[in-house]
Amino acid sequence: MKVLLTGGAGYIGSHTAVELVEAGYDIVIGDNFSNSKRDVIDRLKKITKKEIKFYEIDFTDYEAVDKLFEEEKFDAVIHFAGLKAVGESCSIPLDYYQNNIDSTLVLLKAMKKYEVENIVFSSSATVYGIPKEVPLKENMPTFCTNPYGWTKYMNEQILKDVAKANPKMSVVLLRYFNPIGAHESGLIGEDPNGIPNNLMPYITQVATKKLPLLSVFGNDYPTKDGTGVRDYIHVVDLAKGHVKAIEFSFKNRGTEVFNLGTGKGYSVLDIVKAFETANEVEVPYVIAERRDGDVAECYADPSKAEQLLKWHAERDLVQMCKDSWNWQQNCTNNF
Ligand code: NAD
Ligand code: UFG
Repeated sequence: MKVLLTGGAGYIGSHTAVELVEAGYDIVIGDNFSNSKRDVIDRLKKITKKEIKFYEIDFTDYEAVDKLFEEEKFDAVIHFAGLKAVGESCSIPLDYYQNNIDSTLVLLKAMKKYEVENIVFSSSATVYGIPKEVPLKENMPTFCTNPYGWTKYMNEQILKDVAKANPKMSVVLLRYFNPIGAHESGLIGEDPNGIPNNLMPYITQVATKKLPLLSVFGNDYPTKDGTGVRDYIHVVDLAKGHVKAIEFSFKNRGTEVFNLGTGKGYSVLDIVKAFETANEVEVPYVIAERRDGDVAECYADPSKAEQLLKWHAERDLVQMCKDSWNWQQNCTNNF
């Protein structure tokens, strides 16, 4: 089975590439490297000991995508490609709408022409907006608070409509919670440009002393210690969820939505303490103002994925902290 990974050189896509190759899939990566580096492909070859086919391509470019589909006969697509910074999406919303929606429309057009009927899409827990209750279930109301989130919401709707119009289509919408960690080899991981927005990359850069200290955004939320609670999931577990999602898409038609999370909520201070203990390093922090747009608690009910995909996350917080630190040291020292 040949699977196209759009955005496959990125953080989640590269980890999924490893798991798909190990599960025996033939993969092709397409990426414009706007938020990733070309040498990811070589590192994937090192990890998998296989040739990795890749195309430098922009998925908003219909002619290029048409050519790609003509050259390669895909059985399925996993659509990771997209811009993903919430804050940036509020400053440059048009870029977000154009990149994230156009790429999906272009892909779907090519899939229709070349009769590719299986697609797995990278959605996000952000589509639950401000949760009224947790844990979050797939059938709870969706709403968004920023342009990035709306692109996920709109893409979900587009994909559902396309599947409704073509009964042969299989659409799997994966709502990721908070991926952290890295492959155990330390060869791939998340390496954000500039100052990180997300908690774990910020912590690892404070631990290396690249950044002076962590700002904990608010300690007056209605949570156990007042800091924000999230469902952190090891990126390798998340990647394995994609293998299950692809298998599911080959056996089922229509649209199905799955939360990919662990079902456990950890506060910001839990993460800081777990990181310090697991890696025997200090992470100095100050309590700062709440960050605009943050919610108090967000964690998954992952039981639907357990039931239908036969998938659940296996790696614990200690592993997530160790692998994040291993990657940070490798990417700082060697690359
Ligand atoms: P990433 O930025 O590391 O990977 C995305 C990849 O897509 C990058 O390699 C980038 O170069 C590529 N890309 C972007 N636009 C493209 C285009 N038009 N054509 C070709 N390539 C393009 O991000 P990630 O963390 O791996 O996220 C993957 C997907 O999962 C994204 O759609 C993201 O919105 C979604 N998601 C991520 C998180 C998270 O916390 N990381 C959470 C929920 C959902
Ligand atoms: N936080 C800090 N200090 C920091 C960074 C984050 O205290 O420097 C806190 C936040 O306030 C929040 C928690 O750490 O309570 C997690 O924040 P992240 O920025 O790491 O993650 P978010 O939950 O805000 O958002 C992430 C992705 C979104 C995605 C969402 C899915 O950035 O794209 O998870 O749940 F939609």
